[in-house]
Amino acid sequence: MRAKPFIKWAGGKRQILKHLVNSLVKFKNYHEPFLGGGALFFELYNKKLINKAYLYDYNIELINTYNIVKNNVFSLINELKNPLYKNEKEAFYKIRSLEVNDNIQSAARFIYLNRTAYNGLYRVNSQGKFNAPFGKYTHINLVDQEKLLLDSKALQMAELLACDFSEVTKYAKKDDLIYFDPPYQPLSKTSNFTGYTDKCFDENDQIRLAEIFKGLVAKGCNVMLSNSNTKLIHELYANYNIEEVYANRAINSKGNGRKKISELIVRSWKSKQIRLFRPQEQVISSISNR
Ligand SMILES: C[S@@+](CC[C@H](N)C(=O)[O-])C[C@H]1O[C@@H](n2cnc3c(N)ncnc32)[C@H](O)[C@@H]1O
Repeated sequence: MRAKPFIKWAGGKRQILKHLVNSLVKFKNYHEPFLGGGALFFELYNKKLINKAYLYDYNIELINTYNIVKNNVFSLINELKNPLYKNEKEAFYKIRSLEVNDNIQSAARFIYLNRTAYNGLYRVNSQGKFNAPFGKYTHINLVDQEKLLLDSKALQMAELLACDFSEVTKYAKKDDLIYFDPPYQPLSKTSNFTGYTDKCFDENDQIRLAEIFKGLVAKGCNVMLSNSNTKLIHELYANYNIEEVYANRAINSKGNGRKKISELIVRSWKSKQIRLFRPQEQVISSISNR
């Protein structure tokens, strides 16, 4: 079995993984400043390409969950087996409203809500409180023991940091690989989901990110980014290699409509291995994010 994300996450990279992995350069340490489900980290771990990783996300509860999977996976599995975590509406809203101080319980609650909430959506209100509704799924696999154990092993080589993406500049060194997967720039005012945290990721953040990208390249790092196919992203990364790939994505914030849309992968390096996208390579086998 291969290590895989243990949470479902909006904007997951499963569909374009092949393209991300295709043309990698040799690197020392790996950095993923917008971790989410961490699809590329787990994939590179499976390919034995990682010695040391730095994984960052602004979402404190998400990073706590990763830390517990890394350091207390057996206690977490035990906690998840508590009959309290039922896939029922009443239990869902009760657990959603809980204020939890214990880190293991908080990680179990996070995984439970991720499995049972509508569309696996992690959505918070302006006070940072989780507010996605019950998902009404007929079957959920809350305790995927094998996956959690494998992911725990993978995370032994990772440092987990709950912070803004700009912190990467403190840790990244020459020849490291940095993969940025930010909340995408919306294609229109009403599209695209950017509510992962209580702070919106706006145009100024995209500009700030492009500056950080540039600074890391100047330091001798290998930098890669995925984002939506918009004029602003083309302008911000005009000096780098831009590849266009396709993925099946939700086309509105409710996640009830999907279509194939093009996305961009920006790389700071040139590689002969980067093949131009060909329509027959489209990955359209699943409509889910993972
Ligand atoms: C598109 S998702 C990442 C998806 C991930 N690569 C995957 O495969 O699942 C974006 C992530 O960025 C995080 N985020 C939002 N604003 C941030 C910030 N300013 N600094 C760091 N992380 C941030 C969100 O919490 C979310 O987990």
